[in-house]
Amino acid sequence: MEKVYIETYGCQMNFADSEVVAAVLREAGYGVAEGLEDADYVLINTCAIRDNAEQRVRHRVRELRALQNRRQGLRIGILGCMAERLQQRLMTEEDNVSFVCGPDVYRRLPALLGEVADGRKAAEVELSTTETYADIEPVRLASNGISAYISIMRGCQNYCTYCVVPYTRGRERSRDPQTIVGEARTLFERGYREVTLLGQNVNSYSFAGAAGTVGFPELMDMVAKVDPRLRVRFATSHPKDLSDSLLEVMASHPNICRCIHLPVQSGSNRMLKAMNRKYTVEWYLDRVEAIRRYMPDCSITTDVIAGFCGETEEDHQATLDLFRRVRYDYAYMFKYSEREGTYAQRHMPDDIADAEKTRRLNEIIALQGEIALENNRQEVGREYEVLVEGESHRSKERLFGRNSQNKVVVFDRADAQPGTYRRVRVDDCTAATLLGRLV
Ligand code: 5AD
Ligand code: SF4
Repeated sequence: MEKVYIETYGCQMNFADSEVVAAVLREAGYGVAEGLEDADYVLINTCAIRDNAEQRVRHRVRELRALQNRRQGLRIGILGCMAERLQQRLMTEEDNVSFVCGPDVYRRLPALLGEVADGRKAAEVELSTTETYADIEPVRLASNGISAYISIMRGCQNYCTYCVVPYTRGRERSRDPQTIVGEARTLFERGYREVTLLGQNVNSYSFAGAAGTVGFPELMDMVAKVDPRLRVRFATSHPKDLSDSLLEVMASHPNICRCIHLPVQSGSNRMLKAMNRKYTVEWYLDRVEAIRRYMPDCSITTDVIAGFCGETEEDHQATLDLFRRVRYDYAYMFKYSEREGTYAQRHMPDDIADAEKTRRLNEIIALQGEIALENNRQEVGREYEVLVEGESHRSKERLFGRNSQNKVVVFDRADAQPGTYRRVRVDDCTAATLLGRLV
């Protein structure tokens, strides 16, 4: 039996897609290798969101050349967003790559592997307006048996001016809700206790079926009802359509986690307009206030970009101000990276020097570090229900899990079992972790 080894880079959606890829290939008679050693094909699922993500993959591909020299017949394929963005060009530039396969055509992977088996090259990069892989039961790769991703929609058509995703992942399309609920139920029956519903923009989820149209709030309600012991998370929401009806549904189900990832990108209205984000700072703050009104204990996290085209010191200060006002529990913080084909690349000069982008980014990182630590200090003395995930990376004597707010909690081992809920009292913290003991 020939075997494939899958390596995944990038967002949660890529990790979910790799599990679909494993299912497609297993169904076609391939084995999924545990490591590179016994693989006939290495599939690298890639991210194109920033240049450094692409450079990491290119570095990896070049590194694998040594292994290919020792093992004739080992083929490398590139999946995901880089495959879609660069297509054939990628196989010319990295000549040890045998095939590329875009995110909407993973069903064609068995045929692709067959084609390249004798040394030929092949590319499949068509985008689809309908593919959701709804009928494919993912093979859970590197799973802890407790939490799993469920992909609920694909694509994005918001066209934020900096972003390559609409070009690499195509039009928005939503998956049949019955198949989503079915997948959640199967996972629960197998002992899973947490699912994360994934989409580039989950709150534009909309599926028109025989029983009418199901939107994201209705879908959340359906999944939350699978079992009160199944935690439900979701990512990512766009602030422009974070509705009160979603917040109402969340508030009415204790098993929907108190955590919303709400990428802001910038704290300046001028930048938000240039980015085509379709909301203002005032709108965003109103949504934050609504979240806290419905769920006072909800954590809020974000994404932010430093040094976008034309960003002035004043715009940058506005971002810092916004961070001080919202007080995020966590933030993914990036330097702007110009991407070929986007509106910004075609029409807006990338005019902030790299050193200046770095300075601004570092200021945001430093501020956010302080805020996260202060937020965590407020948690000392509180009690949380923690879903136990496993041994702490630092010590076998301690376990870790997460609370509903998605904060990592480390605590004494005692008799707690992974996959169960335990109450933990927080008695110390760092900026990234809560430390506590079982009650
Ligand atoms: N440069 C830097 N960051 C980007 N993101 C998306 N495109 C770019 C880019 N060109 C960030 C946004 C988005 C997150 C997934 O990646 O913050 O929310
Ligand atoms: Fe990119 Fe904007 Fe779509 Fe997010 S919403 S994937 S940032 S275009």
